[in-house]
Amino acid sequence: MGVILTYKGNPDAAARTVRSIRENGGQALALPLDVSDTGSFAAFRDAVKEQLQAVWGISRLGGLVNNAGYGLYQPIDTVTEDQSDGLFDVHLKGPFFLTQALLPLLADGGAIVNVTSATTRVATAGVAPYAAFKGGLELLTRYMAKEFGARGIRANAVSPGAIRTRLGGGLNQEFETLLASHTALGRVAEPDDVGRVIATLLSTESDWINAQSIEVAGGYNIWVCWKPLLSHTFT
Ligand SMILES: NC(=O)c1ccc[n+]([C@@H]2O[C@H](COP(=O)([O-])OP(=O)(O)OC[C@H]3O[C@@H](n4cnc5c(N)ncnc54)[C@H](OP(=O)(O)O)[C@@H]3O)[C@@H](O)[C@H]2O)c1
Repeated sequence: MGVILTYKGNPDAAARTVRSIRENGGQALALPLDVSDTGSFAAFRDAVKEQLQAVWGISRLGGLVNNAGYGLYQPIDTVTEDQSDGLFDVHLKGPFFLTQALLPLLADGGAIVNVTSATTRVATAGVAPYAAFKGGLELLTRYMAKEFGARGIRANAVSPGAIRTRLGGGLNQEFETLLASHTALGRVAEPDDVGRVIATLLSTESDWINAQSIEVAGGYNIWVCWKPLLSHTFT
């Protein structure tokens, strides 16, 4: 078992992740990839194919995780066409064509996990285009499941709430407290909270889970105004 991870602007972080995986007994390597550059996908596929053979002596990938992303916090009336195109390219067009490019390398019976967002389920202020394209990726997940099912390839989406990562410049204390207060479990996610679910969906433990979008958010924005409701019902 091993992982080919990718980086765009942060090769040092990728190298640290590779080192950490190896120190924990896994096998990993990192390749550069710009998910918005569809013209580079054929060469990327060739590089993946070469590394699979050279490092693991195999010709097929067991799974694909479409995870690359970045945030933009702006109200709809200030978003430019370039900003919208950038988000579209990374969050929807990129995963579409990268999956298409890697499909010949994906093993029959393999698994795809698309990382979307809980912002597709609530209207969080300032993330409209990001959420819209993540919503498109959720829908695309179902079509992937339908079209790739003949080869036994499953496709699911993981829809995280706030995670303590570098996205959008990271969380400041005030924002984190606000998000935690909207989460039933009372905190934001650590990366592993989401990573474990992605790993489970890739594994044979999840062989019968297909075409699903699974929210991994600790119970984000799930309550209604229950106190008045209770008093109305019981007094
Ligand atoms: N953090 C949250 O609260 C949250 C919530 C819901 C969903 N998500 C989703 O979770 C996924 C992972 O984000 P994260 O939270 O881990 O953020 P992060 O720490 O900022 O990591 C984002 C990753 O995406 C890569 N990336 C960005 N643009 C890319 C491009 N054009 N081509 C290739 N790679 C690119 C970055 O690579 P480099 O660093 O090498 O440039 C980095 O590895 C994203 O899809 C994000 O939308 C995050």
